[in-house]
Amino acid sequence: MARVNIEIPPPNPKQELFFKARARYINYGGARAGGKSWAMRTKFVLLASRYAGIQMLLLRRTLPELTENHVNPLLVMLKGVATYNVQEKVFKFPNGARLKLGYCKNEQDVLQYQGQAYDVIGLEEATLFTEFQFNCLRESNRSSGMMSEPFSPRMYLTCNPGGVGHHWVKRLFIDRAYKEKERPTDYVFIPARVYDNKVFMENDPDYVAQLESLPEKRRKMMLLGDWSSVEGAFFEEFTNNPDHYLDRQWTHVIDPFEPDPAWKIYRSFDFGYNKPFSVGWWAVDYDGVIYRILEWYGCTETDNEGLRIPPHKIFEEVARVEREHPWLKGKKISGVADPSIWDASRGESVAEAAGKHGIYFAKGDNERIAGWMQVHYRLAFDENGYPMMYIFSNCKAFIRTMPALQYDDHKVEDLDTDGEDHVADEVRYFCMTRPIKPRATKKLDEFAKNPMSVYLDVNKDDIKTVSRRPRMEIIDGDI
Ligand SMILES: Nc1ncnc2c1ncn2[C@@H]1O[C@H](COP(=O)(O)OP(=O)(O)OP(=O)(O)O)[C@@H](O)[C@H]1O
Ligand SMILES: [Mg+2]
Repeated sequence: MARVNIEIPPPNPKQELFFKARARYINYGGARAGGKSWAMRTKFVLLASRYAGIQMLLLRRTLPELTENHVNPLLVMLKGVATYNVQEKVFKFPNGARLKLGYCKNEQDVLQYQGQAYDVIGLEEATLFTEFQFNCLRESNRSSGMMSEPFSPRMYLTCNPGGVGHHWVKRLFIDRAYKEKERPTDYVFIPARVYDNKVFMENDPDYVAQLESLPEKRRKMMLLGDWSSVEGAFFEEFTNNPDHYLDRQWTHVIDPFEPDPAWKIYRSFDFGYNKPFSVGWWAVDYDGVIYRILEWYGCTETDNEGLRIPPHKIFEEVARVEREHPWLKGKKISGVADPSIWDASRGESVAEAAGKHGIYFAKGDNERIAGWMQVHYRLAFDENGYPMMYIFSNCKAFIRTMPALQYDDHKVEDLDTDGEDHVADEVRYFCMTRPIKPRATKKLDEFAKNPMSVYLDVNKDDIKTVSRRPRMEIIDGDI
């Protein structure tokens, strides 16, 4: 048979360690975008070409992730080398090696692999798998009997901190706290950092900047692969400090004040019937800072329970508030709302009902991750403690619900939608109408570090920033 060459770019030093590791459980993990998925699929291709008859299984949590992350790149890489059976999701190599790709969306999906035998199993994003799933798969990781030479079965894992499986992965690979019958030498951990991945750093510097501007704890997890900074609030940076309501530094919540009559006013909306709806009114100052000045949250006395008011009643009231409230009356108020309110499949859409009361909205941009990043960028304090978003202390629903939101266990950059996220969604739609850039990370003071500068240096306390709130660049204009 004709020889076929597969061109594989050189691995970075951490990927090389991953390729060379021979332990029973090899985990390449830590920060985002270090090149973990690339290393995983490349290792499987290398194993297939080296070992005739080897039987391998590569798993991710969901089918779309599997397709995007592995099936598509492998189809390109293995063109003319291996045949792919779409139904079975199996790559067959001419030497009898076999690579099956699968996903385990639900806890029990893993049972389909019970009783099977794979010489090698790969678990991508292992922290998104439960310990039960890991243990089931361990049982299937045994000699397939299809190989013509000796080979000790292995599992390869990749992961980022956080997720349902955070604790078992941390115990086995980070804390190395073993139970009886678990052999420490079986477990190898190779830490990954985005900075190891030179190709990616050059191709996508914006993504790296995005990681660098995440809130502190999340940044430590995603950029530095810190396993101790876990759990916690999605908006961990949100600060409500009554001592600073007046000076407006290092707090997002402030005392209400009458907005300058020339400031523009906006409205954001998330619809709910059984769940609460949320209306927020915003003022924007000359520096582009946004102030949540008023809100109406459709919730009963019970958290996350909707008022069950029909849309036309909601908008009758919204129209009345906008006619009568001293900060709103006479203003041209542009609105933005959840795009699903234009759904007319069950009769009149919510947007149409709004229109009948003279309340109009633009369709909100529902790109969730980008939207959450915009909320994070707005909440970030500058070096003087001034954010780009303030909340008037009368906006009780924002103050109650935003700090309670948690990260999603499965989608590590999203929030858990089981939480009370109606205010957050509406805030996200509004932030997406006027996106800003992340604050630049502070550069090291090279001047002060130079011993020659000692006599020339100025006492840091004597240096004051000219503008109270440096203006941030608005990439896009108004709604
Ligand atoms: N050695 C390499 N040579 C060329 N490109 C590489 C190499 N390693 C990684 N890449 C590329 O860098 C990008 C990021 O790599 P990859 O998706 O493997 O990172 P990851 O650690 O799995 O990221 P995430 O944390 O988001 O899952 C991809 O486009 C990948 O193809
Ligand atoms: Mg990956």
